Amino acid sequence: MNLKEIISAAEKNKVAIGHFNISDLVMLKAIFESAKELNQPIIIGTSEGEREFIDPHEAVAMVKAFREEFNYPIYLNADHTHSLEKVKEAVEAGYDAILFDGSKLSLEENIRQTKEVVEFVKSVNSEIVVEGEMGYIGSGSEILKEIPEGAAINPEDFTKPEEAERFVRETDVDMFAPAVGNLHGMLANAPEPKLDIARIAAIKSAVKIPLVLHGGSGNSDEDFKNAIRSGISVIHISTEIRLAWKKGMEEGLKNSGEEVAPYKIYPEAVRAIGEVVKARLRLFGGSGG
Ligand code: G3H
Ligand code: ZN
Repeated sequence: MNLKEIISAAEKNKVAIGHFNISDLVMLKAIFESAKELNQPIIIGTSEGEREFIDPHEAVAMVKAFREEFNYPIYLNADHTHSLEKVKEAVEAGYDAILFDGSKLSLEENIRQTKEVVEFVKSVNSEIVVEGEMGYIGSGSEILKEIPEGAAINPEDFTKPEEAERFVRETDVDMFAPAVGNLHGMLANAPEPKLDIARIAAIKSAVKIPLVLHGGSGNSDEDFKNAIRSGISVIHISTEIRLAWKKGMEEGLKNSGEEVAPYKIYPEAVRAIGEVVKARLRLFGGSGG
């Protein structure tokens, strides 16, 4: 199945596909091995910042190597892409999906630019999945000292179903990412805001295409289960696996003694990331937390 079919199957079966961001091969290896152990499809994401570190062609080559060698449903998404120029770069490199993030633009401008992106991408390859985003939820996958300025955390600022319907109809995106109480990053000194499940359900019935939940790190298992039941078909996790990577690397280095071979120091990080990914995939795939 191609990515679009995989996402439609998740939508139909009321499960969610995990989307995990990477900065290097170690993270990709840990995520892939975990997904393969559970036999669940996954989407790998690289943000514009991550694409500064791993060139788009390198990221495509790595993901394709896993997909082809193991005949495995692993796909690559150009996460939070903010310009047509960067969209073109990802399409040219061979990405399977692209999120055009116009969430900080006015509704009119977001629709205009997203529509332009959809038309361009589909003119090159109709199989590439294009996602649009409405409602600003912060932008960094990091530990947050406070709510990011301008982030939609009050219900009156969440994505409105009627605006979502217009956005999807006029842009013709394949997937839609709303602001429904989700936040990019994890709050250091407070629990993550609760997700507005009723709003997810209302948006889903308005737009009728697969919904994507960004800012997954830190949300409760209960919220995830209810969000999936109400229409979320893809869930993004990045901060949680970055934290696992850092803790694992610190552990690995602390226990490394005289060892200088990176591949002998990385396993701690691979294990730590794998634990997070497997717990999330079990929850998203409907087999528990
Ligand atoms: O696009 C990336 C994700 O939305 C990550 O969000 O770092 O809060 O898990 P997160
Ligand atoms: Zn995101």
